[in-house]
Amino acid sequence: MGHREFRSGLATVIYDDEMVGSDCEKLFHDDWLKENTGCTSLQRGTAVMFEYRGLGLVFKRYHRGGLIGRIVAKTYRYRRLKNTRVWREFHMLHAMRELDLPVPRPIAAHCLGVPPLVYRCAVITERVPDSQNLTEILCESALDNEQWEKLGALISHFHNLNVFHADLNASNILLTGRGEFYLVDFDKGAICTPLSRQNAEANVSRLRRSLDKLQGIHPSFHFSEENWQALTSAYQRTIQYN
Ligand SMILES: Nc1ncnc2c1ncn2[C@@H]1O[C@H](COP(=O)(O)OP(=O)(O)O)[C@@H](O)[C@H]1O
Ligand SMILES: [Mg+2]
Repeated sequence: MGHREFRSGLATVIYDDEMVGSDCEKLFHDDWLKENTGCTSLQRGTAVMFEYRGLGLVFKRYHRGGLIGRIVAKTYRYRRLKNTRVWREFHMLHAMRELDLPVPRPIAAHCLGVPPLVYRCAVITERVPDSQNLTEILCESALDNEQWEKLGALISHFHNLNVFHADLNASNILLTGRGEFYLVDFDKGAICTPLSRQNAEANVSRLRRSLDKLQGIHPSFHFSEENWQALTSAYQRTIQYN
């Protein structure tokens, strides 16, 4: 497979040439997206799903949270491309797929530099077909303990391969109709050699906090202590600390 990189004006694009062509830069333009996704507001950091040449794709623009985020909107301080969050996430997704980890295939990334001070960027991944995130699923129905165990074992598998997910919440876990879990949203994540026990445990407690929070918000959120026991016992059985 080939990753190709090119510049066009102030933009730099990287893309997977087995999936799209060099004309994929247009996919990052607001006008194209609005016309082809039916999505009118691309301002906030929400993922946008769309079809392109028979591919199901997901567009995500990087955004900053908090007050400063609102003021500077889509612009960041300019940094070297390789150190940008979007470039890192693109390459990290690729590296994880090489390890056969269940993550979306990265399709293209785009960085708009206005040197020396600002840039904005976005990434496109392949949509995991027939999937919903865990927040959506648990609002509607329960998973059985076997599925919670499967998820616990999958998280430890990522950790055994030194993957740190910076924000492992329920919305960043997908489950397909065939019962396969995927992890998404590796913004600020890293492949650490080695991954510390502290970071690994931080991922697991981040997930617990997210599930507790959702349970507080949604009256019939399907999550129990027994489910958590199933997840953590499978995790503990399979994690390898060196
Ligand atoms: N490749 C993908 N396939 C299917 N759904 C996805 C994919 N990427 C993201 N999503 C969905 O979009 C949501 C937001 O995407 P995410 O990458 O988590 O961005 P952010 O949380 O920064 O807005 C996810 O919670 C998930 O439901
Ligand atoms: Mg997310």
